[in-house]
Amino acid sequence: MRIKRWIATGAVAIATVGALNTLPASAGHPYNPADQSLRNLGLRHDLYMGTAVSMAALNDAADPRYRELVASEFSTVTAENEMKWESLEPTRGTYNWGPADELIAFAKQNNQRVRGHVLVWHNQLPGWLTTGVNDGSITTEQLREILRNHITTVVKHFKGKIWQWDVVNEAVSDPWDTPSTLHYKGFWAQHLGPDYIADAFRWARAADPKALLFYNDYNIEAFGSGDPANDKTQFVYDMAKSLLAQRVPIDGVGSQGHLGTQYGNYDTLQVAAALKKFAGLGLATAFTEVDVRSQLTEAVQNGDSNEINPRLQASAANYSVLLQACLADRHCLSFTVWGFTDKHSWVPNWFGNEGMANIYDENYQPKRAYNLMKGDLIYTGPPYVLPRIPQKPRK
Ligand code: G3I
Repeated sequence: MRIKRWIATGAVAIATVGALNTLPASAGHPYNPADQSLRNLGLRHDLYMGTAVSMAALNDAADPRYRELVASEFSTVTAENEMKWESLEPTRGTYNWGPADELIAFAKQNNQRVRGHVLVWHNQLPGWLTTGVNDGSITTEQLREILRNHITTVVKHFKGKIWQWDVVNEAVSDPWDTPSTLHYKGFWAQHLGPDYIADAFRWARAADPKALLFYNDYNIEAFGSGDPANDKTQFVYDMAKSLLAQRVPIDGVGSQGHLGTQYGNYDTLQVAAALKKFAGLGLATAFTEVDVRSQLTEAVQNGDSNEINPRLQASAANYSVLLQACLADRHCLSFTVWGFTDKHSWVPNWFGNEGMANIYDENYQPKRAYNLMKGDLIYTGPPYVLPRIPQKPRK
């Protein structure tokens, strides 16, 4: 039975890859996969290649290349900021849907899927909400009701237009936080206790039964090799397992993938092992915010190739590790980079002396990371890389 199923899936995969490798050559030129976009190459594996989008950059008439590349290279998009609470409801009760709706329209026009980011997070909350809680004019009971109302209103507004929602983001501490044992952190855990997580998924499911619902976090690319009590990935795994046991409608776990070349990071086998464990729970997985930054030393800033080249190489290798692991796991549905050009990146603003995190440089020239990812998409195939399994929202 198992063998039969393997043969059937393998045959479909080989047929798919075979068919795609014989795509019609254009006007006498042989088909060259290196000329294909990331999005087309990803779809050979049913893998959606995505980017976060800055609406300011997308609408900058002086910078048309940004828009062209979002449309041509990617099959899924995420609003970098425009679906966050402070953007959607800057004044209590008054929603500003404009920029987010614009992204949805852009995605539709370009036949792209949309990842919704984000329903519940402790950052980028509107001032009226945090102030109200801090000065006591919003009580705990009211806060819970406000959250329920926010999730319901937002998910209903975008109903049918969002493929995957990041329902809860970054709810878990890092091992180096205080207290040092892993715990539920941030505004929501502090004011509502950890049960807000199960509630959020249930409210989101009720508002759009067809969207896939994700928990999303950073530093969960692989399991650590040390004490499980200090292992954030293990904590998230246990949380997801427990939510499933309570029949909470969680469909997937998103691994952000914000890496830095100054750290050791992981190899493909470690990342693949983590994805496999989450898949073992029946969950979908996705890389949701991948970028690999480097320290910008004085030599780097002065253009010293002895310092620049190893950074480009290390960044590319880390992108490739995550992509290969995702490709090899049939539950890994999408691979989204957190911005694609160094021209528009959160990294320098956030870290000051770090940058070079994206797959195109500031002049939209593809970097080594872009080419390595393309190579991964081109040269991988059965038996280790098979098309994604269809994922349906959990009942
Ligand atoms: O909109 C204001 C603008 O009016 C003002 O002129 C400008 C001046 O600084 O600030 C603008 O807001 C900034 C906003 O990005 C839009 O550019 C905020 O200061 C800035 O803090 C905000 O940063 C975002 C960050 O989340 C905030 O938490 C980054 O763009 C965004 O890339 C980043 O994304 C997060 C994910 O959502 C979750 N995972 C981590 C990831 C990286 O931090």
